[in-house]
Amino acid sequence: MQNAWYIAATSEELKEGILPRTILSRDILLYRDSKGIAHALKNQCVHRGARLSDGKIHEDCIVCPFHGWEFFSDGQCMYIPANGTNASIPTGAKVESYPVCETAGFVWVYIGKQNHVQELALPKEATSPSFRGVPFSAEWNAHVTRVVESILDVSHLPFVHPNSTGDVNPIVDGPDFEVTERHIRIEAQAFHPLLKTPLNQVEERGSSTILFSFPNQILLRTNMVKDNGHQMCTYLSFTPVNDETIKIYGLALRNFLLDVDLIDEIHYEHNVKVLEEDRPIVEGLKPKISPLDLSKEKHVRSDGPQVRFRIMFRKALEEELLEEEFQE
Ligand code: FES
Ligand SMILES: [Fe+2]
Repeated sequence: MQNAWYIAATSEELKEGILPRTILSRDILLYRDSKGIAHALKNQCVHRGARLSDGKIHEDCIVCPFHGWEFFSDGQCMYIPANGTNASIPTGAKVESYPVCETAGFVWVYIGKQNHVQELALPKEATSPSFRGVPFSAEWNAHVTRVVESILDVSHLPFVHPNSTGDVNPIVDGPDFEVTERHIRIEAQAFHPLLKTPLNQVEERGSSTILFSFPNQILLRTNMVKDNGHQMCTYLSFTPVNDETIKIYGLALRNFLLDVDLIDEIHYEHNVKVLEEDRPIVEGLKPKISPLDLSKEKHVRSDGPQVRFRIMFRKALEEELLEEEFQE
């Protein structure tokens, strides 16, 4: 799915210098200009194909390590040392540049068709000042389809996460879910509380909701105690490096006791632990890519959200392929 915003790095990772990244098998580089604004370029020089990320930054330009051509943040070549200072630049001496957006502590890049760029939309919890977000990340040997489906899958919880998500009833009543063109919203039975309250108010706890935004963002929202407004959320966004590897970026979010470091740690550890419980299962699924032909696997009622995701994924993929065919 190339027409999407993908997290290329955390804001923290992109400091000074050039950061090479791969998204959907495309090699790109990230860097910041002198104002601190992040930019993304194709990581391949138009002269002889050198890896630009092995070069350096000079006056907001990327200097190729091979013959020193200099490329501005829009990809335009500004200087060719072998031609001397006043020589003109051949037309087309430009590397591809990509739209970049920095928000919620992440640097996002849009590598798809420029005529499809839409404004990046995040769930409000990810950027709201009333939430504190503790970042975490992981890299899995898995395809995005299997990873997204594992999060939309409520029936795996008591089997894969008995110690972290807890003693949830294996009987999935439904689940109740709603589908719109690019969203799936699942009202799940409450997960086991992450932090038991002093009164152990398990029964009083509100519901949990999973909000999926096609193709690669998920917010898991858990109301800690019914009606008190305290929420713990896990925000996840997926960046396919290639068909075999995926980067998972996340924020452990909460809107209460924002300055208690201990909760930062507990929530962070919880998220890392849950992901690590999922990882071997998801990495072991065969085939690696979810079969988009629905008849290839067996489905039951609790798989409803995953099946809807597959349908969405297949449709979007077909549209992208069709468009590419027309352009050729
Ligand atoms: S390959 Fe980049 S300047 Fe020659
Ligand atoms: Fe899981």
